[in-house]
Amino acid sequence: MSRDRDVQAFHDRSLGYETGFRGQLHAEIVTRSLDLALLHCPTPDRVLDVGCGTGQLLRDLAQRLPGAACLAGVDAAAGMIEQARAKASDPRLRFEHGTAERLPVLTRPSTW
Ligand SMILES: C[S@@+](CC[C@H](N)C(=O)[O-])C[C@H]1O[C@@H](n2cnc3c(N)ncnc32)[C@H](O)[C@@H]1O
Repeated sequence: MSRDRDVQAFHDRSLGYETGFRGQLHAEIVTRSLDLALLHCPTPDRVLDVGCGTGQLLRDLAQRLPGAACLAGVDAAAGMIEQARAKASDPRLRFEHGTAERLPVLTRPSTW
């Protein structure tokens, strides 16, 4: 599958991404990934999730890191960013449409 088709498939799934069996599986992967990441880096000040999807990982991280300054996410699928922004209530969360290969300016730490 080409990158564009891959991103289009994520865009098409964005609305129900956190629901159903796959959503439950993803939530478990997020929890385990964060457990591991925080073992190695327990108190990061700024976090960037490239390929952030609906922002689930960053929302969970925001709850676990009350002292973090900024949690930013970038995703190539516009629908994912739309969902991430709609679900975010913590003001430290920022989401931007963009790609890993060409990161938007807001994700550079000097601009946070
Ligand atoms: C498994 S989801 C990530 C979920 C999110 N990291 C989380 O744990 O909540 C993978 C995401 O990567 C995005 N993606 C794929 N290729 C990308 C690229 N080149 N640049 C940015 N995002 C990309 C997809 O659109 C998709 O939303």
